[in-house]
Amino acid sequence: MGPLREPGLAHATRPPRLLLSCAMNKAHLEYCASPEWAETVRKHIIPGTTSGLDLGDHLLEIGPGPGLTTDVLATMVPRLTAVELDPDLAAALERRFAGTNVTVHNGDATATPFAAGTFSAAICLTMLHHLPTPADQDRLFAELNRIVRAGGVVIGSDSLDSPEFRSFHDDDICTPIPPETLAERLRAAGFTDIQVETNPFAVNFHARAS
Ligand SMILES: C[S@@+](CC[C@H](N)C(=O)[O-])C[C@H]1O[C@@H](n2cnc3c(N)ncnc32)[C@H](O)[C@@H]1O
Repeated sequence: MGPLREPGLAHATRPPRLLLSCAMNKAHLEYCASPEWAETVRKHIIPGTTSGLDLGDHLLEIGPGPGLTTDVLATMVPRLTAVELDPDLAAALERRFAGTNVTVHNGDATATPFAAGTFSAAICLTMLHHLPTPADQDRLFAELNRIVRAGGVVIGSDSLDSPEFRSFHDDDICTPIPPETLAERLRAAGFTDIQVETNPFAVNFHARAS
């Protein structure tokens, strides 16, 4: 699996002390919309996390941000629904993906309006640390287990904690996942067939909804 670098670590300047209405500071948001991040997503993150896994006919993406992940994922499935908390980012995505196989929902992925078993699979890339607390992350895991069909795969990747990572999230939400806790937390949310692996930059997982 290729390296999964946290957005901006190699390039971060200290972000301005400005908290946007969304869950990302300005520097972070700009990096998540950059050509460099697009290439990392396309070459490393998506192949590294999805390889060998069947995404089915209706993929749910959590926290697409500017949507560089969505651009790639939308080519891999017949239908994709993206849930984005930030209203401005969601509106921009809705405009950009109008008339395609992508539907955008502006809302909180920890409590969605979707019926149980709506999706064939779900994926959350570099977004779990943007949830305010570990309890919110656990609520998201439980919600994904509810809205993905039994046996469908749920995939995630998130950056590992480090001083550099924290500094990039100055004035921003930053709740890194301790990798050693993840398998048990996914089990508690109802998942089976849980696989967790780490590389020098990130923790990756996939598991089956029950
Ligand atoms: C760092 S960005 C990641 C963007 C994209 N996944 C990528 O890897 O390029 C995290 C995104 O998650 C969104 N987010 C945070 N909490 C969320 C929630 N509870 N529900 C849906 N989206 C959320 C943020 O608004 C932000 O757009």
